[in-house]
Amino acid sequence: MTMSLSSAARSDLLVRGYSRRSFGRIATLLAAGATVQAMTRSAKAAILPSGINFAGMTRLGSNECWTGPFPEAARAGAAAVFESNRYDPTGHMRDDLVRTAADVEQVPQTHIMPWCGSSDPLARAIVTFCSPERGLVTADPSYEAGWVASEWLKLPLAKVPLSAKNHYRTDVRAMLAADPNAGVYYICSPNNPTGTLTPLRDIAWLVEHKPAGSVVLVDEAYIHFSNAPSAVELVRQNKDVIVLRTFSKMFAMAGMRLGLTFARPDLHERMMRYDGRNETQMLPVPAMACGTMSLTMKSAIDARREEMIAARTMTFRHLRARGIHFIPSDANMFVIDWKKPAAPIKDAFLKQNIVIGRSWPIWPNASRISVGSMDEMKTFCTVLDRVTG
Ligand SMILES: Cc1ncc(COP(=O)(O)O)c(C=O)c1O
Repeated sequence: MTMSLSSAARSDLLVRGYSRRSFGRIATLLAAGATVQAMTRSAKAAILPSGINFAGMTRLGSNECWTGPFPEAARAGAAAVFESNRYDPTGHMRDDLVRTAADVEQVPQTHIMPWCGSSDPLARAIVTFCSPERGLVTADPSYEAGWVASEWLKLPLAKVPLSAKNHYRTDVRAMLAADPNAGVYYICSPNNPTGTLTPLRDIAWLVEHKPAGSVVLVDEAYIHFSNAPSAVELVRQNKDVIVLRTFSKMFAMAGMRLGLTFARPDLHERMMRYDGRNETQMLPVPAMACGTMSLTMKSAIDARREEMIAARTMTFRHLRARGIHFIPSDANMFVIDWKKPAAPIKDAFLKQNIVIGRSWPIWPNASRISVGSMDEMKTFCTVLDRVTG
């Protein structure tokens, strides 16, 4: 799929120091709608498991939800399939989604934009607020889609290692020191892969001290699993903050594609410049129906979080009893430090029909494990004993 950039977008990109040569790469990135689709083969391989037939396997590798969407929401989505001959069957499905999110998050509707997942707005934020002069700063390890976008566009990239001293939390002061003139400071909270939270006061500190013209991009893909206060609070205060949310995790809609961003209207407007429109259009109808209902299902969200915590707690107990080092987590994933290369261990799990998550180059001895159902985690523990015994 090709996409041509609007003339407003082209002149804005030139002013910010992008070369004409980079226009094609930017168009590819944005037209793909998901960063991974525009990536090089090796970068892609780092994120996506490839060539595996998952049938019959215990899948603890991609931080997906272990079960489907909330049944009531799924039924609303299924009913909407039959009306999906229309771009928007009622003419106000998109408005319903935005209004519902505004009610739940107590944010003006003007500050919400729906998307087909959160990968697209993540990539756009990099294109929009970074430039060859103003790069991206991120923790390491952290979710790599933004890094991949910045590498694809040849933008400056500063990675700040997580450390035990800081409880593996994103260190906002070190991030600012790493590049005091960046365009985007990306904070994933809870962080993928560690599941560690960045306290809201730290994010607020960064927002107050960051350079003018930059944004703090807070990726809250896993926030519902933690019950922590959201950085949407800073959006309510009209700060230079963009909050990314996806329906792919707690709401179990990874294959349906839905996401939201929360930000001041002028920030959203700049992100939309490449489409020549002020808002996203034509979202998947079943996803909107399912997602709108999911947002309101507080007791189902709480119950699913508790279910995940029970499975995670059982697993942590098992790891502790065997002296296996792991990082305590506030999300549906955690990191195990095997104290030896993780790649052969991942292969050994695979031979036992368990897919565990990837390693990051900075921590080659560590693997990310997604938290599955209690039964899946019991299977994981049994196989762990076999693999490490
Ligand atoms: C931290 C984080 N952000 C964003 C995404 C992208 O989510 P999606 O495009 O499915 O909404 C993921 C997916 O795993 C993620 O882990």
